[in-house]
Amino acid sequence: MSDAVSFTRDGEIGVITVANPPVNALSQPVRAGLKDAVQAGLADAGVKAMVLICDGATFIAGADIREFGKPLAAPSLVPVIDAMEASDKPIVAAIHGTALGGGLEVALGCHYRVAVPGARVGLPEVNLGLLPGAGGTQRLPRLVGVEKALDFIVQGTHVPAAEARRLGLLDELIEGDLKTGAIAFARRVLAENRGVKRASALPVAPVAADFFANYEAGIARRLRGFKAPFNIIKAVQAAAELPFAAGMKREAELFQDLMTSSESRAQRHVFFAEREVAKIPGLPKDTAQREINTAAVIGAGTMGGGIAMNFANAGIPVTLLEINREALDRGIAVIRKNYEATASKGRLTTADVEKRMGLITPSTAYDDIKQADVVIEAVFENMDIKKEVFRTLDSVAKPGAILATNTSTLNVDEIASATKRPQDVIGMHFFSPANVMRLLENVRGKQTANDVIATVMNLSRRIGKIGVLVGVCDGFVGNRMLHQRTREAMFLVEEGARPEQIDKVLYDFGFPMGPFAMADMAGLDVGYKVREERRKAGKIEPRESLWIDKIVEMGRHGQKTNAGIYRYADGRTPLPDPEIERLIAQCARDAGIAQRQISDQEILERCLYPMINEGAKILEEGIAARALDIDIIWINGYGFPAYRGGPMFWADEIGLKTVCEAYRKYAGQFGDTYWKPAPLLEKLAREGKGFYDL
Ligand code: 3HC
Ligand code: NAI
Repeated sequence: MSDAVSFTRDGEIGVITVANPPVNALSQPVRAGLKDAVQAGLADAGVKAMVLICDGATFIAGADIREFGKPLAAPSLVPVIDAMEASDKPIVAAIHGTALGGGLEVALGCHYRVAVPGARVGLPEVNLGLLPGAGGTQRLPRLVGVEKALDFIVQGTHVPAAEARRLGLLDELIEGDLKTGAIAFARRVLAENRGVKRASALPVAPVAADFFANYEAGIARRLRGFKAPFNIIKAVQAAAELPFAAGMKREAELFQDLMTSSESRAQRHVFFAEREVAKIPGLPKDTAQREINTAAVIGAGTMGGGIAMNFANAGIPVTLLEINREALDRGIAVIRKNYEATASKGRLTTADVEKRMGLITPSTAYDDIKQADVVIEAVFENMDIKKEVFRTLDSVAKPGAILATNTSTLNVDEIASATKRPQDVIGMHFFSPANVMRLLENVRGKQTANDVIATVMNLSRRIGKIGVLVGVCDGFVGNRMLHQRTREAMFLVEEGARPEQIDKVLYDFGFPMGPFAMADMAGLDVGYKVREERRKAGKIEPRESLWIDKIVEMGRHGQKTNAGIYRYADGRTPLPDPEIERLIAQCARDAGIAQRQISDQEILERCLYPMINEGAKILEEGIAARALDIDIIWINGYGFPAYRGGPMFWADEIGLKTVCEAYRKYAGQFGDTYWKPAPLLEKLAREGKGFYDL
């Protein structure tokens, strides 16, 4: 046997134990060990049944993703599972933690499955752009039915044990010690002569002739661009229509098709990148952390309310501070409304709502936040007001409290300078809606202490966010790159592309919506005010497009006024508006720009390549430490399609040379004001390297 798998005996029960930390992934030694262990159990006449159990925090959490993309060392998983299922001595899988992917497939190859009540099971391969490739798509429909199996595999969720029991996926829940319970269960199987129950031998309950076509139509829009869900449907259809062996063959083909796809490569990259962002280069892993047991949020507006909810959701008491009672009551009422809406959809109980509301203490007195371990400021976006708030915080917050700002455009170092403790000040840039969006840009100031950074990165995870560390600059990482895209999109419209054409190109690329539909949704007045401020401050861009400001000046502020760049007959569906088309044409004439037909390819390049170029500058300046930080920001904060891996990963895929050549082409056409490649981009392109080679 390998070190990763051991075989022991408890009377007539053989116990196979997997020990491959941290998550008992099915690396080669585990696969080989499982095969040997089953053989040992079969060869030992004293063994009548077997239990498969895991050491450590979890049952097998899946195939070893690090082995993907390389030639697989024998044995592969399918014959190992087949050998288990073929055993004539019953095998019981004993599950704790999570049985995921290949791990659950191993359990499905066992004859019985028991689990502790806290366990979860799932086939989350879809999140890696894959499908369960070791019989999951063939055995699961036989156990739980086609429709349930499809939901299970297409959604890839981790299903709680009780629900898995109801579905028929688990045979029993074990209270108390799992090993003892599983061995007792195996003895009962023997005593009751229940024999071996092979999932592969079960029939698949028939479904309607158009079931699979309808299922596909049902997910087509939501999951567009992803490849795996559609291959999953085909694999489950094979389970329904073909004998088991032929179904397995089809599953293997469809799995292989995904394994070599760019979509899966990108999604696997995202899986690891999401974990890497938490590891900060230069920050020792054992950096001491400050204890966070209580929080305070200043400002109960759009952002402050959502931020407070995150803490309440995580069970951390939070005080919400406002200037006056009226604003406070308004903020609290919005929070309650949000929770009640969730409860009405059945996703929270009324008791949960009250518990969470109970964790939020409304206040108008700074005295109430003296003991908070972390304070997050979310007041108006105005430097004088922010400084005033931080001066006050400096005088009331307890020593060692972390003082964070949610500013999206102001300089965190300047805010920190209002205090005598800039080492305790950091940016925590939440995205709207703050209780929903997973991204959190944590902004390190010049003087922010290492333990503050470590604490805030860990806190991000505790409150359900993906924290990415960035440095201080205009717009931080996300908005700074977005600004590039917005500018080019506006120019393109002036030059003759229609807003709906641009929106469609970016929607088809995989964004949830295009920039103009998004602008209308967010409200055009927001950007207008920002541009007005800039103009007042004398910051005139070398080229300004004025058409969008003219739309705002017509009183068209977007969806909320039923008209913006688009018109809205039903309040939310954007419709092209001839009046706006005329206005844009007039603006172009006024600016001396001849309108022309613009290709979708030009739109894509001009919208996305400047983002990549800005990303290169961000890396050069050290604002983001790694390309993966930028990618995770764009995927989680701006809807960049995960199956393209983020803008920097995508850039590497298309080749930086291609990007640089396009830069030269556009510089020839428009001059190099906006088309000067960043030195890092040029250097990498010259060397034939990518951002991920850095
Ligand atoms: N292979 C290799 N490494 C894995 C892994 C896997 N399947 N799952 C997790 N890890 C690693 C992580 O990269 C991380 O490494 P690090 O410490 O070096 O960063 C470490 O294990 C711990 O992972 P988490 O930080 O995610 O720990 P959590 O406790 O938060 O979560 C988990 C544990 C729920 C198991 C989560 O890691 C997870 O969801 N893992 C992926 C599960 C999965 O997708 N399984 C399917 C794999 S594909 C497959 O099985 C194909 C088959 O059908 C043929
Ligand atoms: P908002 O106007 O909805 O809320 C601000 C709240 O702060 C108001 O309720 C106001 O009464 C309160 N307030 C003002 N001065 C205060 C003070 N001195 N003490 C206590 N409370 C005070 O604004 P919003 O949108 O929530 O923005 C807050 C911060 O979050 C800003 O810095 C903004 O840039 C940032 N932000 C906003 C995002 C958005 O999409 N709205 C996204 C990310 C960051």
